Amino acid sequence: MPMKRFKKSENPMLNQIKDAVTFIHKRSSMKPEIAIVLGTGLGNMAKKIKTEAAIDYAEIPHFPVSTVESHTGQLVLGTLSGRHVAAMEGRFHFYEGYSLLDVTFPVRVLKELGAKILVVSNAAGGMNLDYPKGQIVLIDDHINFMGVNPLIGSNDDRLGPRFPDMSAPYSKRLMKLTEDAAKGLNLPLRRGVYMGVTGPNLETRAEYRMMRNLGADLVGMSTIPEVIVGVHMGMEILGVSIVTDVCDPDHLEAVDIKEIIRIANEAGPKLDRLLETAIAKF
Ligand code: HPA
Repeated sequence: MPMKRFKKSENPMLNQIKDAVTFIHKRSSMKPEIAIVLGTGLGNMAKKIKTEAAIDYAEIPHFPVSTVESHTGQLVLGTLSGRHVAAMEGRFHFYEGYSLLDVTFPVRVLKELGAKILVVSNAAGGMNLDYPKGQIVLIDDHINFMGVNPLIGSNDDRLGPRFPDMSAPYSKRLMKLTEDAAKGLNLPLRRGVYMGVTGPNLETRAEYRMMRNLGADLVGMSTIPEVIVGVHMGMEILGVSIVTDVCDPDHLEAVDIKEIIRIANEAGPKLDRLLETAIAKF
């Protein structure tokens, strides 16, 4: 999707969102209340959904076309804990070469389908040394360190404001409900600040040190574009990270992506249980 200037009456994105929604409605008339974006290694949660429709991204009009090296995934519509949900099993990353308009297009479609709440999950590096590997952390604020922004370009007031407020992108109400659910499950849960980078390389020791000094507890290569677009459209947002590698600049071990995915997979069932329980109260 080109980042073009346009006359408001001609904004191509509005029609593209409508095309995608019309197509999805042909497969399921369900109106999701909650949109869920499942992060790396965390896609298994979609299997818990009592599925009405599972639609390959490739079928949905105007969804980004998958690059060779990444398999994209599917949109799962159904019921989880008695709530109507639409879950993205797999997301698009900036480092794969997609524009941020492409990365965030599905979030706009999910909002147009009816979702007022957006839950985003990811695998992240932990700079806060109090977090062990596998720790679940609620994102209570973020630092956009990607050097780009999905809202750059002409703004369409029908989608959201030119200058969205960012004083509280993550919902205190949803965090409190999730913390209550964690207590009930006896699951340790922390809060932290997430810093978003483009990737695809992991960070140097000096970069981790700088990020920690700048106030970040977590670092990852996703989530922030989707959250910015969610805020732009007035969605209530919950962000959750799983710490997959401990980023101590003074004792940094080499990580490889297989290990990151293994830790995310291992912690996945805990996060699934937490979200399943919390979502019932959202
Ligand atoms: N850095 C960036 N992204 C990541 C990391 C990391 O250490 N771990 C998981 N995703």
